[in-house]
This record gives sequence, C-alpha cells and structure tokens, in this order.
Amino acid sequence: MGKGGVKIMEELIRTLAVTITNETKLCGSIAATASKAGPRMHNAGYEALGLNFVYMAFGVNDVKGSMMGMKALKIRGLAVSMPHKQEVMKYLDEIDPTASRIGAVNTVVNDDGKLKGYNSDWIGAVTALEERIKLKGKKIILIGAGGAARAIAYGLVHSEAQVFIYNRTADKAERIASDFGITFGGSLEDLTKVTDYDVLVNATSIGSGGAVGLSIVPEAQLLRGKLVMDIVFYPFKTKLLEIAEKAGCETIPGYRMLIHQALFQFEAFTGRKAPFDVMETTLKQALSA
Ligand code: ATR
Repeated sequence: MGKGGVKIMEELIRTLAVTITNETKLCGSIAATASKAGPRMHNAGYEALGLNFVYMAFGVNDVKGSMMGMKALKIRGLAVSMPHKQEVMKYLDEIDPTASRIGAVNTVVNDDGKLKGYNSDWIGAVTALEERIKLKGKKIILIGAGGAARAIAYGLVHSEAQVFIYNRTADKAERIASDFGITFGGSLEDLTKVTDYDVLVNATSIGSGGAVGLSIVPEAQLLRGKLVMDIVFYPFKTKLLEIAEKAGCETIPGYRMLIHQALFQFEAFTGRKAPFDVMETTLKQALSA
C-alpha cells in the first residue's frame, strides 16, 4: 500500500473508532433484497446530528429469526420492506392500531426488548401529496391493491379525499374498498373509462423491476394540469412520470413518499427530528446514481 493508501486507512480507522463504540445504537432494514438507499440516507442523517447510531441494510428472508435477532442484539429499530410487511406482524409484542388497520408494518421499534410495529407508508404518501395539493374533497384514482395501496387508501380516507380504487385483480380492490369505505372502481379495463380526476396514484409495481419502461395507464388518460404520483422510486423517473409530464400533468416521483416515511422512522428510532435536507439530498443522489 502506498503512502496515500495508508493515510486513507488511518483516517478510516480514526473515523470508525470515533463513530462506532460499545454505545453505538444499531438500526437498519430487512427486505428480500437489501436496500441501497436506506443506509446512505439514514447514516447521513445520523452524521448530520452527531448521533452515535449506525444503519445497515439486511437482505433476509427469515423474518422470525430477524425479530429474535433484533431482541437478542438490542437492535434499536428496523425498517421492514417487501415482502415482509405482513409476516413481521406475527412476531411483534405490540402493533400500533393504525398499522393493524392497514394490515402491514414497515417500522419496528425495540424499546428495552419490547418490539412495537408501526406503519409510516401512509404518512409518506399523504405528506408527499399534501405538499402539492389539499386532499380534502379531491377525487383520487388509486391504482393497485397490494400492501402499499392499502396504506395509501387508509391515508387518503384519513385526509377526507374521495377515493376510487382500481386493480388488475379487481376483487382485491373491492376488498380494500370495503375495508376502508372507498369506492370500488373496477379492473384496469374499467380504469380506461375514467375521464376525470384531481389526482392519479400508481400504487402497483408497474414501472419498476421487470416492468421498467411500462406505464399502468396510457398517455391519453393523463389529463393536463392534474397531479400524478408514482410510488415506484427506482428508476427515479418512471415511464408513467415521463408521459405524465409530456401530457402536461404535475408529477410527484416515488422518492417523495420514500423520504417522508423514512423521516418517521428516523424520529421513531432516535427520538430526534430528522434533518430533512441532508436526508433528501442523499436519497436523491443514491437513487439517481
Ligand atoms: P406492495 O405490497 O408493494 O403493494 P404487492 O402486494 O405485490 O406489493 O402488490 C403489487 C401491486 O402491483 C398489485 O396491485 C398488483 O396487481 P394484482 O393484485 O393484480 O397482482 C400490481 N401488479 C403487479 N404486476 C402487475 C402487472 N403486470 N399488471 C398490472 N398490475 C400489476
């Protein structure tokens, strides 16, 4: 190793010695695939506030073992992502009533060995929307009927919006409509007949993974001047957002929901107000890379 390399190693060791001690609190995330953006965003926030916390992403499928490990290793908090948000509920000591109603937990806090589950996805979605529009009384088209759609449906009802839900598998949307008292719109074919709304939300996975480059609705249905939000955050600009912009819509990219749900987690884990600017900039950089 050259002189430069030694210097870098020394600097690294000094930094680690300062930041990681026997007092350091460990937080992190569990998901089938370890998150890349989460550690960067949360660790940037800890660093900005000088907190002796560290955040790691675990790509795991053993949810029960993860919760046992969380207790045994005194891990302070875990974000829970796909596909563990329902299963994790079985292994908690307490579940916040809102998370119970939604039927999914995306945040687990360990208070002296007692694990409590929360759902901050609905907060993320509502905050991202309310930054741009007052939801009360607005007509919202919600597409999708998975866990994310359930959390968003809850949040929209909480904000007193008028919600119409559509999904490829229509009976799943019908179930959410009846659970939350919103209007069942129908299948994706029924969706093509929609001619009027204030806000359209894609809560399906179309636009990500194997469906990158696809949009859940055609351009013709994207109405000039209306607001379109995609919950897909990678790629940063999905096909839906691209064609919505072309059609003259206002758009909200998926990272907006992601940052707002993460702020809740940061605050639940550390008890400190999250440094929004630092975390937002870091998240955007991580997703755009
Ligand atoms: P999450 O918990 O993130 O919401 P999920 O429960 O797997 O994930 O839900 C994924 C959503 O994307 C569902 O609404 C799903 O539609 P189905 O209920 O019909 O499965 C939707 N989705 C996934 N692939 C789709 C596709 N190729 N076309 C239309 N919708 C799709």
